[in-house]
Amino acid sequence: MNCCLLSSRIHIFHVLVILLTLTLASCYHDYCIIGAGPSGLQMGYFFQKSGRDYIIFEKSNVSGDFFTLYPRHKTLISINKRNTGKTNKEFNLRHDWNSLLSDDESLLFRHYSKEMFPSSDDLVQYLHDYQTKLGINVQFNTYIHNIQTTPCEAAADGHVFTMSDQYGNPYTCGKLVVATGVSQPNIPDVPGIEYTEGYETISTDPDDYEGKTVLILGRGNSAFEVASSIYGSSNLIHMVGRSRVRLAWETHYVGDLRAINNDLLDTYQLKSLDGILQVGLDGMKIVKKGNKFQLQVSNMKGPGKSMDQMYDNFPLREPYDKIIRCLGFKFDSDIFNLSSTFKMGNGRGKKFPAIGNDYESVSLKGVFLAGSASHSLDFRKSAGGFIHGFRYTARALHRLLEWRYHQVPWPITTQPVTNLLPVLLKRLNEASGIYQMVSVLADIVIFKKNNTEFAYLEEFPLNLLHELPEKTGHDAENILVINMQYGEDFSIPGSDIFTFYKPSLDSSDAHNSNFLHPCLYYFDRLPTEEDMKYKEHKKHLPTPKAIHHIMEDFLTTWDAPNSHILPLRRFLENIFDTDMRNFHWETCMEYSLTRTTVPLTCKEFFLKGQGIGSKVG
Ligand SMILES: *[C@@H]1O[C@H](CO)[C@@H](O)[C@H](O)[C@H]1NC(C)=O
Ligand SMILES: *[C@@H]1O[C@H](CO)[C@@H](O)[C@H](O)[C@H]1NC(C)=O
Ligand SMILES: *[C@@H]1O[C@H](CO)[C@@H](O)[C@H](O)[C@H]1NC(C)=O
Repeated sequence: MNCCLLSSRIHIFHVLVILLTLTLASCYHDYCIIGAGPSGLQMGYFFQKSGRDYIIFEKSNVSGDFFTLYPRHKTLISINKRNTGKTNKEFNLRHDWNSLLSDDESLLFRHYSKEMFPSSDDLVQYLHDYQTKLGINVQFNTYIHNIQTTPCEAAADGHVFTMSDQYGNPYTCGKLVVATGVSQPNIPDVPGIEYTEGYETISTDPDDYEGKTVLILGRGNSAFEVASSIYGSSNLIHMVGRSRVRLAWETHYVGDLRAINNDLLDTYQLKSLDGILQVGLDGMKIVKKGNKFQLQVSNMKGPGKSMDQMYDNFPLREPYDKIIRCLGFKFDSDIFNLSSTFKMGNGRGKKFPAIGNDYESVSLKGVFLAGSASHSLDFRKSAGGFIHGFRYTARALHRLLEWRYHQVPWPITTQPVTNLLPVLLKRLNEASGIYQMVSVLADIVIFKKNNTEFAYLEEFPLNLLHELPEKTGHDAENILVINMQYGEDFSIPGSDIFTFYKPSLDSSDAHNSNFLHPCLYYFDRLPTEEDMKYKEHKKHLPTPKAIHHIMEDFLTTWDAPNSHILPLRRFLENIFDTDMRNFHWETCMEYSLTRTTVPLTCKEFFLKGQGIGSKVG
């Protein structure tokens, strides 16, 4: 089973190490997935479907263990929109944020809850059923750690991975997919942090906050979730964050503060004692005063004195009965032996492993990140940290692996170019992957045979565009990229999105569209790595040969004959410098006799040759 046995040219020492490992190893698998949460199960589903040798190791006794504890107040913030007025299954997934992808229709979340924001208990039940019904291979109660590489010349990456569980049982894996999420509470190094209680352990009984004065560190969804649950019983709640509150409806990022959690904005602005302040963690400390606690912030202007000593009206001058920490989560890299060599990201991405656009760890070849642990690639931009996003990035990762390790090219459909317009319209109006993973996954059209044919690739990672042939197994020169995007300056915290409420209805204004809308980029040669690297600030792609924005639409359907379809057809016709309407062969014959160029549909007839014959016959 193990590839290493096949290689005869390995150093004798390595052979010994490997043989020893093998003897001890109770099992070898080509792919080991760590974590049976939603992304681990989703990866398992794809490996199973493609017949790969895989296993999922889960440390607990259930699938989706994270959701047995979180969110603490049990209300998910992913929507379960059961009705859309449409029967198109793909379209409906655009508004179903909790289901994983599968062919089994009973495994849609709509069958598990009627709530728009369902209970996390229902998600745990759903994940259990997903795993059991589809027979996904999970080994429960297995805490994997001490992951190390063992050189192996025959292995695709030059090494395999060894690891052990909590009982010391050894395992060997060809490739690793780490799907453990971001589950470690983020606890900053602030003096007095031990006086705080964390989101992970606080009481969720509002009675425990009766008549208490509470300070919450953090201003994200978990902070507001806690505030909403106790603002009816506490004296007052103050909330501090390093930066301004970011409202999801302004930023269009689902991880920012959602309307379902934002009650405290009202009680703050309507002067009902609660309040939100912007305070950085630097120079902050927490001190005990009797049985209460006070937050002290160093004064940037004069040394020595803290803000509360300097200003007797300092907003946080009164001590608190409780200080609660809701500062988010980070990835747990302790599962790797010498976790210090496993590279984490920096800046905004420091809670996540450092990975490339193909989801591979930058420090460990053959280790791939799936699920919210891969969210560094689209943090504050798209939905890759959430089920409705990572069910698609998992599919993209699986497709990349299929090509890289098994020479199975990225799936495509090839069609005559005269079908392009209908194919595009169908995707624009139903595709869920590119709709959720806005400006991260995009559809690609590869033109072939002198533009008479095209291959259609779905949901390709946009940032890998310059490596399209290497990553998919499909040659590409002139291509069309179909990206879903918001207007450039439309997703900024603090922007008044409601001033844009009345969009223009004039399709010549399409390039000024603010709301999510499709944008097509035509390149007559594949962008290079340099092009991608030096693309303009705020642009999703390098400057294309031609670009076409499809007018934003209040109904988010882009099928209006004059406002959407006609300008799209004209754009395509400009690219090909030809007429894309469908003509009858008689008209084509006439054109071929009277004009120097003929419409595309006619070229089809003539190329096929017998096409005309059969039509005539
Ligand atoms: C899983 O373990 C917990 C204790 O850790 C126990 O309460 C629970 O019943 C177990 N669940 C299953 C499905 O075995
Ligand atoms: C890392 O591996 C070494 C050698 O195999 C072992 O002695 C050590 O205990 C491991 N460290 C951890 C943190 O598992
Ligand atoms: C493409 O068109 C050019 C000229 O327009 C022609 O020379 C070439 O043979 C064509 N190639 C194919 C594959 O049809």
